[in-house]
Amino acid sequence: MRFSPEEAIDRGLCTSCGRCSAVCPSGAASGGAGVPPAFDLRRCISCGHCSAFCPVDAFHSGSLPGSSAACGIDPLLELYSGRRSVRVFAPVEVTEAERAKMLSVIGYCPTGVNRCGIVVRAFGGAEAGSLHESVRRALRPFWKIGPLRLIGAVSGYGAVLRRFMKGEDLIFRQAPLVLFFFTPRRNPTSAEDGVIAASMVMTAACSMGFGSFWNGVARILYHITPSWRRLAGAPRGSRLCAVLCLGRPAFESRPLPPREWTLLDGSGRP
Ligand SMILES: Cc1cc2nc3c(=O)[nH]c(=O)nc-3n(C[C@H](O)[C@H](O)[C@H](O)COP(=O)(O)O)c2cc1C
Repeated sequence: MRFSPEEAIDRGLCTSCGRCSAVCPSGAASGGAGVPPAFDLRRCISCGHCSAFCPVDAFHSGSLPGSSAACGIDPLLELYSGRRSVRVFAPVEVTEAERAKMLSVIGYCPTGVNRCGIVVRAFGGAEAGSLHESVRRALRPFWKIGPLRLIGAVSGYGAVLRRFMKGEDLIFRQAPLVLFFFTPRRNPTSAEDGVIAASMVMTAACSMGFGSFWNGVARILYHITPSWRRLAGAPRGSRLCAVLCLGRPAFESRPLPPREWTLLDGSGRP
């Protein structure tokens, strides 16, 4: 059920402090210090900010204990600096409870204009293994009649393609869990919404000791692999934003120095 400030607010508790209108991102809440708030529900995006920032919890929207600074930057930096793409997985299934835990972060994802609508299709066990075979089947005609061989020769990936067509799972790397992230195409920020959700799940999985890699190749191949579309059962009008492969890492890795990146100052100089 979508959050509605008008229904949720307990006007007996409200102190008319004006904070809800100060934090409202869409200008749906009005009222200021000493003026009781009014809500324009046509503009409300149900993000719940009025409730989350209310100093007296006047919205009764089931707020949870905890603080926004619970984790701290140092543990987070440690987590990220130790993260590496994992492409060799231990042959251990991800349990349903583990999967549910890492996916639970999606409930806290921001989405542009709060339209939400994120859909994740999880492939585990034998089903995950079958993804590799289905893309090989889809590519076989192109391999037989030549264009794929030509692409291989021109791109320098001929040997890799040959290994793949012979049966080596170079796309999913036998990952025990493969996650497809879909969002509604009609949402103006649909691509970012899905990437943010996948990033948050990657971080959650990492914090639980799982390794992962983003599968850009699978995301591209999705469009030429009809069986995946059938298997995925994605809602009509949805966009595949990201594919994550996950599992327990077979090998330990060590943190390396950070990569280069650039922060520009106001004059456009680094
Ligand atoms: C959008 C995106 C797509 C990627 N696609 C693939 C892929 O298809 N296959 C793969 O093995 N790695 C893929 N990667 C992983 C990158 O190759 C990896 O991040 C890079 O090698 C740096 O290593 P690190 O993740 O350990 O820092 C992808 C990463 C991103 C961000």
